[in-house]
Amino acid sequence: MKEQWQGMTMKKLLIHNIGLLATPEGKTARGGAAQGKIRKLENAWLLANEKGLITEIGQGPAPDTFGVFTVINAGGRLVTPGLVDAHTHLVFGGWRQNEFGLKLRGASYLEILEAGGGILSTVKATRAATEEELAEKAGKALKEMLSYGVTAVEAKSGYGLDRETELKQLRAIGRLNQEGPVELAATYLGAHALPAEYKENREEYLRLLTEEWIPEIAREGLAEFCDVFCEKGVFMAEETRRILEAGKRHGLIPKIHADEIEAIGGTELTAELGAVSAEHLIVCQESGIRALAAGGTIACLLPMTSLYLGAAFAPAREMINAGVPVAVASDFNPGSCPGLNLQLAMTMACLRYRLTPEEMLTAVTLNGAAAINRADRLGSLEVGKQADMVIWKAEDLEYLPYRLGSNLADVVIKKSEVVWVNEYCHPEAAF
Ligand code: NIG
Ligand code: FE
Repeated sequence: MKEQWQGMTMKKLLIHNIGLLATPEGKTARGGAAQGKIRKLENAWLLANEKGLITEIGQGPAPDTFGVFTVINAGGRLVTPGLVDAHTHLVFGGWRQNEFGLKLRGASYLEILEAGGGILSTVKATRAATEEELAEKAGKALKEMLSYGVTAVEAKSGYGLDRETELKQLRAIGRLNQEGPVELAATYLGAHALPAEYKENREEYLRLLTEEWIPEIAREGLAEFCDVFCEKGVFMAEETRRILEAGKRHGLIPKIHADEIEAIGGTELTAELGAVSAEHLIVCQESGIRALAAGGTIACLLPMTSLYLGAAFAPAREMINAGVPVAVASDFNPGSCPGLNLQLAMTMACLRYRLTPEEMLTAVTLNGAAAINRADRLGSLEVGKQADMVIWKAEDLEYLPYRLGSNLADVVIKKSEVVWVNEYCHPEAAF
């Protein structure tokens, strides 16, 4: 008996009776026509090992379950890769419901920011919070995300705008990543706004950012990415270039918040900077789309922010037509999108960006994983990839974006472990 096990990888998880296994394929972002080409396997099963990796995928009757720790009968349901939320501002102090009334009375996002509100008011609350408080609050948000089927999340700093608070935010992200089960990728967003104390001394803030803080954050391994809010009245395109180039010199991969409110040339920088993603892109012009295509840059689109700002929707179809890989994320933050439900963003991606359900699935799995540099490991259900997946209260892919606002995630699996079971889920329950 013992010999029989020698040299064998222990099987950890079998999911069988999968009505439809739907997944993009590959280890890189998919753009153009390839974004909509996904694998659909009916009546499928999947085996994963104790290292958290997928070892076999098949069709038909379940294989022998001898030696398998966990056996799940998916009851004919849909299974997809775990969702990846590739753009969030997860860690912050306080909320900003006081701005809601101002918004309803017509104040614009940039007017509120100029008057010292907006991001700068969250900066005050974040500076006042301890690392423990920030981690605890963000941990609750992460738990809600997990319940929606999100198994990997990008999290930005940017509500400290001073050395100590930015480090505190990044450490809170690191701590949550350690705790699991949701995996986090940290982005340094020290250029989220100019803090009030540097209003008359912009150059000194840029110097500290590029010459002191970026090197320290990179040295300490506290972030993988560097991002800039490239926007009129926040950071101009030339400043963005300077900051992201400094990040690159220290090994931080560039990302850009570009074309969210006004087009000031941020997206056009992406190709020459080698940015992994450009994010928002609500008012992205043709020149921006050309740069994204030339640089192989992922367009990370945030439909819930468009809704919340009462703004237009990014030209997603034009991007896909130009061969640009599109990812869709939540942009969870206390100002322009206090929402965590990526499933709602999925519905909006179909209705407002005109993505097909297949393109939408790639946008929230493989392309999201590529936007956080993890497409080699995450974002699709294939042998050798991580066993992160969702069993949905659905029997086909269309049902996910079709339903509005309900949580359809039934069972969420991270690295071969069941990490979330919806309270309404019963093993025998019909969807
Ligand atoms: O992605 N655009 C900049 N940052 C966030 C909003 C941050 C805030 O308002 O607190 C965004 O929309
Ligand atoms: Fe954002």
